Amino acid sequence: MAADHHPRFLMCPPNHFAVTYSINPWMDPEGWRERADTLAQTSEAEWRSLKSLLEQLGAIVDLMDPAAGAPDLVFTANAAVVLDGTALLARFRYLERRLEEPHFAAALKALIGRNVLKRCAFLPADIVLEGAGDCIWDPERNLFWMGFGPRSSKHAAAIIRETFGFPTLSMELIDSRFYHLDTAFSVLAEGEIMYFKEALSSSSLHKLYERVDIRDRIEVSEEDACTMHLNAIRIGRKLVLSSCSSRLRRQLADRGYSVSITSLSSFNLSGGSAYCLTLRTDLSSDSRLLASNIYSESDT
Ligand code: ARG
Repeated sequence: MAADHHPRFLMCPPNHFAVTYSINPWMDPEGWRERADTLAQTSEAEWRSLKSLLEQLGAIVDLMDPAAGAPDLVFTANAAVVLDGTALLARFRYLERRLEEPHFAAALKALIGRNVLKRCAFLPADIVLEGAGDCIWDPERNLFWMGFGPRSSKHAAAIIRETFGFPTLSMELIDSRFYHLDTAFSVLAEGEIMYFKEALSSSSLHKLYERVDIRDRIEVSEEDACTMHLNAIRIGRKLVLSSCSSRLRRQLADRGYSVSITSLSSFNLSGGSAYCLTLRTDLSSDSRLLASNIYSESDT
């Protein structure tokens, strides 16, 4: 990253955030209703702290308008896949979230208007892909790690390769608690992969082991995964998380990563955490690697 380059994120204020339906095992609308007022205040405060922490770490945060009736709009990671100024607008599996699509489209258009992004691309009608939640850029290998199963279709990988011109590696998600790849898988600056093994199918794990050297694999416990320790925002060697076990923190420190913690307990009740609440809009590929012979699956 050049010295004057600021990481840039899209976020959506949580004015209308709540758990009003259940599309993943963490969401309990009744439990939320019992403490709705307190939780609304908590989410407001937690979201603000996350935003200021990112700003303290040198990031620019662009905001989009919240919308009544779209409580999960705060999870902007799901808005699109972004690389090199192109944003591929998401399509959601569940109707509850499909109504977010026009809001995200408008937000991306506004970012194009302000020269943060260059263009917006769209998925074919029959393909679901829930944005950066299921499509994680790997800056070291210059490829996308993609999650499929609970939310995104396997066939989305071909569209990603076509749209961005980079290889993909698809990971099948087999545990409903880890419904987006970003809940079970994190890519660190030097290409280390932090992941929860049991969330991935055995053939996907095999693919991961083939592609990632054992020294670059950081396997986390079920407890770490369930407390969303994998849902990390990465700014160089700094990670932003809603909590972190001392064991994982030590492991990360040994590899030169520092962890900043900011509580996101109210968002955890919706199955989301730090990475989910942000969409990185300034990611760019290293064109020097374009011509190299990176292995890519072609049969997805
Ligand atoms: N309640 C939201 C859902 O189930 C949470 C989304 C979290 N986002 C993410 N990228 N994991 O869709």
